[in-house]
Amino acid sequence: MIFDNLLYSVDDAVAHIVLNRPEKRNAIDQAMIDDLHRAMDALETDANVRVAILSGAGGKAFAAGADIAQLRERGAAEALQIINARLFQRVEDLPCPTIAAITGYALGGGCELAMACDLRVAGRSAKLGQPEVALGIIPAAGGTQRLPRLVGIGRARDIIFTGRLVDAEEAERIGLVNRLVDDENVLDAAEELAAQIARQGGLAVRMAKIALNTSSRAGHQTGALVEQLAQAVLFESQDKLDRMGAFLESKEKRRQAKAKEQASE
Ligand code: COA
Repeated sequence: MIFDNLLYSVDDAVAHIVLNRPEKRNAIDQAMIDDLHRAMDALETDANVRVAILSGAGGKAFAAGADIAQLRERGAAEALQIINARLFQRVEDLPCPTIAAITGYALGGGCELAMACDLRVAGRSAKLGQPEVALGIIPAAGGTQRLPRLVGIGRARDIIFTGRLVDAEEAERIGLVNRLVDDENVLDAAEELAAQIARQGGLAVRMAKIALNTSSRAGHQTGALVEQLAQAVLFESQDKLDRMGAFLESKEKRRQAKAKEQASE
């Protein structure tokens, strides 16, 4: 696939999506949005991909937000097209878990994209925030929705009303990022997390993602029903039989070896 502002590759069941506009701090312009939609097309249909890692080229930013030059020209009609919100919803809805690997700035739409991912790994240089009110708008690509879910409504009010930057230590402390590492280790840490997820039951991880997303969107009652249905499907899956069988078999082997050892003493 040929992209303008994105690099896309799949290696060992892990997809890498790199926002690639470093001279503009990976600001998300229409070309990058179109690229990301095409990457979503690929990820939605490639069952071999177990985890996707999103990162920003250049090290100075994951993404410094939506492209302000383009935003300035948009009116109400374009706002109602929910251009970024629709894309980020697709990211959240991807069947596989997603990890945002963040160094430098993740601001505005960049922070919203990172929050649409399932997990966030940050380097010590990371600075996250929703500075939209400084530009006379609000974080409307999910920012007012996903930020309070991650950090609580009180902290979300503080971050959104002031537009302040949240440094990496604070982001980890308040649950805005899941892992904090040195900048040079961010991609390795994201890879490690991806590998750990990829070793689990693939269908189980996907079902868990659906149940979690339903819970955060539709609340406990609907979430609990989806949880129940997902488990019923998993209980009859071959992967469950294989994995539980393997566990029991290894225990049995260990028991037999121990019994043999005791008998020969
Ligand atoms: N939209 C468009 N262009 C952007 C951008 C954005 N969101 N963020 C950065 N850029 C561009 C700058 O205009 C500059 O372009 P130029 O070299 O043609 O002048 C280039 O990226 C580098 O940015 P610069 O400000 O020189 O880098 P910096 O390292 O000093 O500062 C930021 C980085 C992220 C702090 C600063 O660029 C910034 O505040 N950006 C806007 C963040 C924002 O408000 N995002 C929310 C948008 S809704």
